[in-house]
Amino acid sequence: MRIFEPAGAADLAEAYAYPGDGPWLRANMVASADGAATHSGLTEGLGGPADRRLLSVLRALSDVVVVGAGTVRAETYGPVRPRDWWGDLREGRTPAPPLAVISRSLDFDLDSPMFTEALTPTIVITCPSAPVERLRACEKRAEVITLDGDQVDAGAALDALAGRGLVRQLTEGGPHLLAQIAAAGRLDELCLTMSPRLTAGNAARVVNGPALEPPTSLRLGHVLEEDDFVFLRYVRR
Ligand SMILES: NC(=O)c1ccc[n+]([C@@H]2O[C@H](COP(=O)([O-])OP(=O)(O)OC[C@H]3O[C@@H](n4cnc5c(N)ncnc54)[C@H](OP(=O)(O)O)[C@@H]3O)[C@@H](O)[C@H]2O)c1
Repeated sequence: MRIFEPAGAADLAEAYAYPGDGPWLRANMVASADGAATHSGLTEGLGGPADRRLLSVLRALSDVVVVGAGTVRAETYGPVRPRDWWGDLREGRTPAPPLAVISRSLDFDLDSPMFTEALTPTIVITCPSAPVERLRACEKRAEVITLDGDQVDAGAALDALAGRGLVRQLTEGGPHLLAQIAAAGRLDELCLTMSPRLTAGNAARVVNGPALEPPTSLRLGHVLEEDDFVFLRYVRR
């Protein structure tokens, strides 16, 4: 199967259909051939057109895109923007899924497009130790969910989204957030793009946290290939 289908995104959408109607958390990450999650602090040097196309389809299939504030800041995140080639992938749903950003500091530019241009209001998930003034300001621009605890419990955050009907969940990381999701046993699926680039250096891997004991076992769902990129779809056993 080709990632680029002139006819549209239907084949890809079928290959990446969410299983069932219940909550499901899929992660989509890119790594260099030698395992780096970034080059010069960003993913830009690792990705390519097919990778971006797949990410866009995965967004279209999701009810919500969950992301850590570190990634939002590093990658200057904007809202999810619908594409005309999505066809009917969003039929019966909002034109684009909302972003759900996890943060304690709430250190965001609230005048950025992520808040001002979102077709579906951005959701901020935080905890009671968030700075009160920023929390109040955030509430004017976003739907804010405050969960108990010193920091946001990753599993509770996913549950809160599912409780709002946002069950087809896609996380785009970053590696710190993904480590917490994996540690909570909530990573149902890992879509991993292997980029045909060697970077060396000391960049983090796509999951960056304490060792998982025991390691999470994955089953290979499928492998796609395009332009020397390999697209792996793993599902938790
Ligand atoms: N290879 C890939 O596919 C990929 C994907 C995404 C990102 N990246 C790269 O990864 C880097 C950023 O990733 P990262 O791992 O450093 O950051 P991250 O996981 O995106 O974000 C970390 C931040 O998220 C917030 N956060 C995370 N867990 C939290 C919790 N339990 N409670 C409250 N807030 C929490 C905190 O924000 P506050 O500081 O605001 O409290 C924390 O500083 C960037 O260089 C980006 O380019 C790579």
